[in-house]
Amino acid sequence: MKLLILNGPNLNMLGIREPDIYGRKTYHELEEYLYTCAAELGIELEQFQSNSEGALVDKIQQAFFHHYDGIVINPAAYTHTSVAILDALKAVTLPSVEVHISNLSERESFRQFSYTALACEKTFAGYGFEGYRMAMRYLFEKYRDKQS
Ligand code: DQA
Repeated sequence: MKLLILNGPNLNMLGIREPDIYGRKTYHELEEYLYTCAAELGIELEQFQSNSEGALVDKIQQAFFHHYDGIVINPAAYTHTSVAILDALKAVTLPSVEVHISNLSERESFRQFSYTALACEKTFAGYGFEGYRMAMRYLFEKYRDKQS
């Protein structure tokens, strides 16, 4: 099984950025953690972070052409603004799960709506890095059930 993990703008600043909200662990530590989780599940993983909306759209399209089995995405601020990322996720029709490190339901009103979640099967928010693992496990179990 091959999964793509996408992280949007400012997530490369993890560890520096608003630690009270996002914690003190760095983006590099997140990547390491996710490679470990993937190895445990026997999943092949590609991770990509970008601050640019177009680069994220390009990567979602590539996931289709490179036959990925699913996408885990934290679109960060684009969650609340990006019809382009929503459309890309809808276009590729790969099983997708949205993740947020923070608990959006306890934050500002402009964070209460997610465009991108409209194309995702599930959202895990407020579990820190663990949310990514939960998303990977969900997609892994779905893929495994489909094979049997
Ligand atoms: C975030 C939540 C978004 O509202 C915010 O813009 C981010 C990070 C999270 O992981 O909690 O950049 O996606």
